[in-house]
Amino acid sequence: MTISQAMTDSRASIRAMKQQDIAEVHDIEKLCQTAPWSQSHFENEVNEIGVSEPLVAVIRARVAGFIVVWYVAREIQINNIGVHPKCRRQGIGRILLSEALRFGREKGCDAAHLEVRQSNTSALHLYKAAGFQQVYLREGYYSDNLENAIVMKKPSLAL
Ligand SMILES: CC(C)(COP(=O)(O)OP(=O)(O)OC[C@H]1O[C@@H](n2cnc3c(N)ncnc32)[C@H](O)[C@@H]1OP(=O)(O)O)[C@@H](O)C(=O)NCCC(=O)NCCS
Repeated sequence: MTISQAMTDSRASIRAMKQQDIAEVHDIEKLCQTAPWSQSHFENEVNEIGVSEPLVAVIRARVAGFIVVWYVAREIQINNIGVHPKCRRQGIGRILLSEALRFGREKGCDAAHLEVRQSNTSALHLYKAAGFQQVYLREGYYSDNLENAIVMKKPSLAL
C-alpha cells in the first residue's frame, strides 16, 4: 500500500515517535526540506535528548507526518514539523501541532516558540491559525540561501 492509498479511508492517530518510525520520518523530511535533518539527528531526538518529545501521525501503520518538540523551562520549542506531500491539506499538520501544544500545557508550559522561513507560506498560515505571532526577524538566518527567519511566539497556551 502506498502512503496516498493509506490516506483515503482513515484519519491519522498521533503517538510518540519510536526508533522504528525513523526511516519513514526521514523519507518525509527529505521531501519537506531543502536542508534536511540526518537520520541520526532524529535518532538523537528519540533516544538521547531528554527534553525532546517527538510525535508522529500514523495512518494505517504508515507515518504521514511528524513533529519534533522540546519542552524546556515551561516553554515549548517547535523544532521541526513535516507532512508527506501526498497527505497535506487534510488537517494532519494542525493535529500534530495542537497535540504538541496540549502535551506542553499538561506539562505546565505557558508559551511556545518557533522559527520559520519567511517564504514558507503554508507553515506561516498554520502557525498563525494556531495563535502564533511574529516577534522578530532574524535576517539571513538560513545558511543554505541566507533567507530570513521569522521568530514566532504563542504567548499563552490557555484554551
Ligand atoms: C506546513 C505543513 C506541516 C502543513 O501541514 P498540513 O498537514 O498540510 O497542514 P493542515 O492540512 O493541517 O493545514 C492547517 C492549516 O495550515 C494552513 N496551510 C497549510 N497548507 C497551506 C498552504 N499550502 N497554503 C496556505 N495555507 C496552508 C491553512 O491555514 C490550513 O488550514 P485550512 O486547511 O483550514 O485552510 C506542510 O505543508 C509541510 O510539511 N510543509 C513542509 C515542511 C515545512 O515547511 N515545515 C515547517 C517548517 S517551519
